[in-house]
Amino acid sequence: MLRCGWGKAIKGSVGAPRRWMSPEGVRTSGWKQSCIDVRSQVQRLTEAIRNCFTSYQCIISSDCSVTSCASRRQKMTDTVDPAEHPFGGAWTELKLRAVADYLVFYTRALQCRPSVQTPFQKWYIDAFAGTGERTEERTAGGLLEGEPDRRERFQLEGSARRALKVEPSFQHYVFIEASERRFRALEKLSGEYADKDVRCMCGDANAELRKLFASAPWPRGGARAGLQRAVVFLDPYGMNVRWETLKLLADSKRADVWYLFPLHAALRQLAHEHGAVDETKRAALTEVFGTADWEEEFYREAQEARDLFDLGRSSRERVADPGKVESFARRRLQTIFTFVSDPIPLLARRGLHQFSLFLATGNESPQAIDLIKRGVAAQVKKYGGQASRHTSGH
Ligand SMILES: C[S@@+](CC[C@H](N)C(=O)[O-])C[C@H]1O[C@@H](n2cnc3c(N)ncnc32)[C@H](O)[C@@H]1O
Repeated sequence: MLRCGWGKAIKGSVGAPRRWMSPEGVRTSGWKQSCIDVRSQVQRLTEAIRNCFTSYQCIISSDCSVTSCASRRQKMTDTVDPAEHPFGGAWTELKLRAVADYLVFYTRALQCRPSVQTPFQKWYIDAFAGTGERTEERTAGGLLEGEPDRRERFQLEGSARRALKVEPSFQHYVFIEASERRFRALEKLSGEYADKDVRCMCGDANAELRKLFASAPWPRGGARAGLQRAVVFLDPYGMNVRWETLKLLADSKRADVWYLFPLHAALRQLAHEHGAVDETKRAALTEVFGTADWEEEFYREAQEARDLFDLGRSSRERVADPGKVESFARRRLQTIFTFVSDPIPLLARRGLHQFSLFLATGNESPQAIDLIKRGVAAQVKKYGGQASRHTSGH
């Protein structure tokens, strides 16, 4: 991508005349001339690099909003629709399809249960809802198309919009989002579905879920107690889901929880040397696993101190890898949920195991668990294993 821009810059500077005029038009020579040569070549290179970036590169700011892109002539400062939400890649599509397919299975399966006269009230709760859309960037052009490489943006449906399109429909939708800008986009989206009961909440997912499950009709009691059933989607960027939130959902006994476990983020907190795991990392890991047992699980005493200076220092070494972290996370979820599915591993660029997607429920009814197992097995078969080993995009 950069080759074409760099090629031009280098060609230009190589072919530059030997003798130079200073910026003031004075002919110079010797070391002073060399300084001017170097300075002007640096200026040319800088300009060439700037052109390359202006032509091809996408600059993604800290909150992941794209500030430039697409065509050769587009400037880095181009503005982007504030509702845009760029994230994910090919694996994101797998995740969203697995969840959406399950939603269809779920609303169909519960349509006439427990009876045709009084069916369950079905809720869809998206606790990290985004905007309802997602923007994906892909490289287009290139040798095969006979055009220079360029980055293109595509608008795709996010989890909230996909859920709103599910037929048969849920009776209630709750979208929780921490970012005010994205929350406003969700409100706009809910306006498109005026026939549905959609509630948008702006705030932290952990706090809002606690409020929601403490308010009517969720606490047991009342005329239709126990008839509410929910699918909750926990789709964080990183380690944002608190253990007590998972416990709350498990204890409701009425929620099927799709949890995008942040495997890579957890592994990154596990420094290779035990001594390098500081208090912040320790607290984050204990929160995500709901126990401090990860220390025993992922660290072993090293065989021997390497030299005299190691004596007296912690010589525990990391024995964690993605498989071990995934298996430990699943065992931890099994301590609070009655059923936890096999994971769907989601791999990003170069096969990096970024997330593992689990379905967990606290439902105690054997018939319900059988049904859930059937629904999720289809998704694991379709999107797990080789299917999730998509590495393009992102
Ligand atoms: C991966 S995106 C979710 C995308 C969405 N599920 C979709 O498919 O369109 C994560 C979202 O969670 C939001 N978020 C981050 N931390 C949060 C928190 N503590 N509570 C609620 N939302 C949060 C981010 O603003 C972002 O929109």
